[in-house]
Amino acid sequence: MSLWGGRFSEPSDEELRQLNDSIGFDHILYAEDIQGSIIYARALAGAGVITVAEAETIVRGLRQVMEEFDANRFQLAVGDEDIHTAVERRLIEIVGDVGGKLHTGRSRNDQVATDFRLWTMRAADGLVEALRRLQAAIVTVAERHIETVMPGYTHLQPAQPISAAHWLMSFFWMLERDLDRLQSARRRMAVCPLGSGALAGTPFAVDRQQIATDLGFDRPSANSLDAVSDRDFVADMLYAICLCATHLSRLAEDILIYSNPAFGFITLDDRYSTGSSLMPQKRNADPMELARGKTGRLIGNLTGFLSTLKGLPSGYNKDLQEDKEALFDAVETMRRLLPVVEATLRHLRINEEAMAAALTEDLLATDLADYLVGRGMPFRQAHHVVGNVVRMAAERGETLSQLPLSALKDISQVFADDVAAVFSFEHSARQRNSLGGAAPEAVRAQIAEAKARLSN
Ligand code: ARG
Repeated sequence: MSLWGGRFSEPSDEELRQLNDSIGFDHILYAEDIQGSIIYARALAGAGVITVAEAETIVRGLRQVMEEFDANRFQLAVGDEDIHTAVERRLIEIVGDVGGKLHTGRSRNDQVATDFRLWTMRAADGLVEALRRLQAAIVTVAERHIETVMPGYTHLQPAQPISAAHWLMSFFWMLERDLDRLQSARRRMAVCPLGSGALAGTPFAVDRQQIATDLGFDRPSANSLDAVSDRDFVADMLYAICLCATHLSRLAEDILIYSNPAFGFITLDDRYSTGSSLMPQKRNADPMELARGKTGRLIGNLTGFLSTLKGLPSGYNKDLQEDKEALFDAVETMRRLLPVVEATLRHLRINEEAMAAALTEDLLATDLADYLVGRGMPFRQAHHVVGNVVRMAAERGETLSQLPLSALKDISQVFADDVAAVFSFEHSARQRNSLGGAAPEAVRAQIAEAKARLSN
């Protein structure tokens, strides 16, 4: 039996039902739906709409429905269009007609908005925890490589020496902002629609403040029409997820490049790489490619859902049912992805020798210019002089440090014997001791701050 049988003389067309039904995916919301109903039954009793005894009968019935779902014993029936319909149908089977009093003053519109906000708040909490574990893995690996010098890149061209720790820690801070985005999205979604009715509110004096508090929301919504119509919390969450995935995708791309034998900076653990069915030598970083690839789909979930929202008139529209698959998919994808990225990082090997071998002296050109600056030359001029030095070295087929002092002096008299000290990658890294810089001391401070964040 459908929920609106009174108005219609014929049941829905079977193909429409298949299109319309959401039980195939929204059953995931059963716990939130039942919790919302338990609190709502008590609110109805509080308002004197039903007796306390009736409320407790309903609550008992709802608990049984919850147990059936928990134990995977819940039997779907024909006409269980969505989770709300299914739970109510079963409740009435268990407790009889009194179960029919539960929906007084309530609509599936305020119900679904409440359920889905609750579910999304919990999903955000789960992702925050998984992100924290990933950040902890980054810190653990970074701490071992504060002194491991590697080339830093801009435009994917060798730029200046940094440390492997500095490279890794850059992702810690990206994830820190992702975490903050998830938490601020969660703050905005912690507003309870229940008690908004279909769109206009309810004539029954349910205590909306109490309902909100009991369900773990910060407060009740301020406008019943807004509460049932909008899904900006879904878009917020999808966006927070997208940006996080985008960061993971960029980390993945670095790992793919650095694990390519032409770089050889890192080797993935056997458990987190895959081979080829044909080429025996292959070691592919599939988990990283999946991180990169899945990000595309996640971005699609966000843009697709924004397109769903943009033309909707006020009030609930069935288009809004599209919110669920987009977000369920996004959250599930992240739940699978984050632990694998974490484990891949935890178990990757950093090849210090390969990193060292990739350090070419042109990475020190900026240091050479800074040396001239230290001797009073304006930077713009120093840049030009070192440009000449680099060109001369290339023409002579020598590295910068192989050029005799006399040759350097031919370009600029400012060069002196102490220039030799510039040609050290460790020296170069140590120089960049600014707050947030790549020098070991600065990276240690950065890691200390990261650990402080992890511990609170
Ligand atoms: N399954 C629906 C959804 O997910 C529940 C709300 C239905 N409301 C309605 N007026 N048809 O959006």
